[in-house]
Amino acid sequence: MVATTIDVRDVAKSFGSNPVLKQINLRLPAGQIMGLIGPSGAGKTTLVKAILGMEKVDAGTTTVLGTQMPNRQVMQRIGYMAQSDALYEDLTARENIRFFAELMSVPKPQLAGAIDHVAQVVNLTDALDRRVAAYSGGMKRRLSLAIALVQDPELLILDEPTVGIDPELRQQIWAELYQLKAQGKAVLVTTHVMDEAERCDYLMLIREGIALAQGTPQQLEQDYAVSTIEQVFLKAGRLQDESHSDL
Ligand SMILES: Nc1ncnc2c1ncn2[C@@H]1O[C@H](COP(=O)(O)OP(=O)(O)OP(=O)(O)O)[C@@H](O)[C@H]1O
Ligand SMILES: [Mg+2]
Repeated sequence: MVATTIDVRDVAKSFGSNPVLKQINLRLPAGQIMGLIGPSGAGKTTLVKAILGMEKVDAGTTTVLGTQMPNRQVMQRIGYMAQSDALYEDLTARENIRFFAELMSVPKPQLAGAIDHVAQVVNLTDALDRRVAAYSGGMKRRLSLAIALVQDPELLILDEPTVGIDPELRQQIWAELYQLKAQGKAVLVTTHVMDEAERCDYLMLIREGIALAQGTPQQLEQDYAVSTIEQVFLKAGRLQDESHSDL
């Protein structure tokens, strides 16, 4: 049996009187890449934070690697890239990666090699010793991704990892994600980029806090009788709006 890395059951969450997640269920097996897609404000980041135990839920449970979150030990087994970069501007990129790697208990003898490897994956090798204050937005995104990868985590949770990243490098990053998948690791990724959604093994389309559709990209295209995920996205949204106006 394949191990479950993320298990979300009947999760609901409101901010004040604004319901942001409604009865969300999600299961991510090891060795799979799951994409979370949905318009801005749909609840993707809130769901990601609920999974990590960073945001308290009102109902339901979130379990990661068999443990109820939040849990510090389990956090060390997750590579998390937040939607907004949390970097030390006054340090160099190498110092940033090293800082987080030590926080995540990467063994000392492996540290230098691990930093070289992740820098290569995100194409920052030549800029590693520059201060982050001098980085562009896209470079900061790449550095955040390098930090998420450096501990060689069993589970990667990436909140819009490729914003501001050019197509060539996106290919390279996806090649790395596939490699991690081949090693049996699991990836949860939120994205607005539809060609990335097509590359996921499994998709959840979330809108107004509701999981409107779930399945492989092929299943979703079949279910909605369309030929691309972009069309699934648009059609599911239209149908949801129509169901509101019927009320
Ligand atoms: N801390 C908060 N307090 C109040 N409302 C919040 C808070 N965080 C998020 N929200 C609201 O929850 C809803 C979902 O936000 P969330 O950030 O999860 O969306 P998202 O799908 O990640 O959007 P995007 O694609 O723009 O990143 C939005 O209406 C947002 O305004
Ligand atoms: Mg978000």
